[in-house]
Amino acid sequence: MATTRPDEAALRKQLVQGLQEDLAREYKALIQYIIFSQKLDKAQYMNIADQLKEHAHQELDHALAVARQLDYLGVYPVHTPKPIEVSEDNEEMLWADLRGEDDTINNYRERIRQAEALGEIALAEILKGIITQEQDHQIDLATALGVVPDSRLRPEKDDKKGKK
Ligand SMILES: [Fe+2]
Ligand SMILES: [Fe+2]
Repeated sequence: MATTRPDEAALRKQLVQGLQEDLAREYKALIQYIIFSQKLDKAQYMNIADQLKEHAHQELDHALAVARQLDYLGVYPVHTPKPIEVSEDNEEMLWADLRGEDDTINNYRERIRQAEALGEIALAEILKGIITQEQDHQIDLATALGVVPDSRLRPEKDDKKGKK
């Protein structure tokens, strides 16, 4: 039987904890997209409202995929979403979703590195498929708001518009 080095056990624990947080973020994204796809009401945002419905379906798929991986790793998936943001204001709804996608993408980048470091290749591949869709979500939202999609390249003055 292969022996597990202590540092590998610690890395594995970090990976699992990270995936649990990722799942909680997927629940949050799913709920916000369900609500905001119905609540956006400005004529200029009708196109993005339809895109949000698509995002909701994809977030559900992501949640199922992450939960399956957690089960595979022998842990019970979390059941509580990250705190949901709500608003009646069209721009604030879109910013709440964009900030969520920024955060989600940064976390999946880290998770892919952790999975690869542990030789969890299938997990890394699944997460790469998910992050590709998250970047599409980020592009849709940033385009609707007229800002740069990649949060690392987004001017601070634009980012501030999204802060309450
Ligand atoms: Fe997602
Ligand atoms: Fe997303």
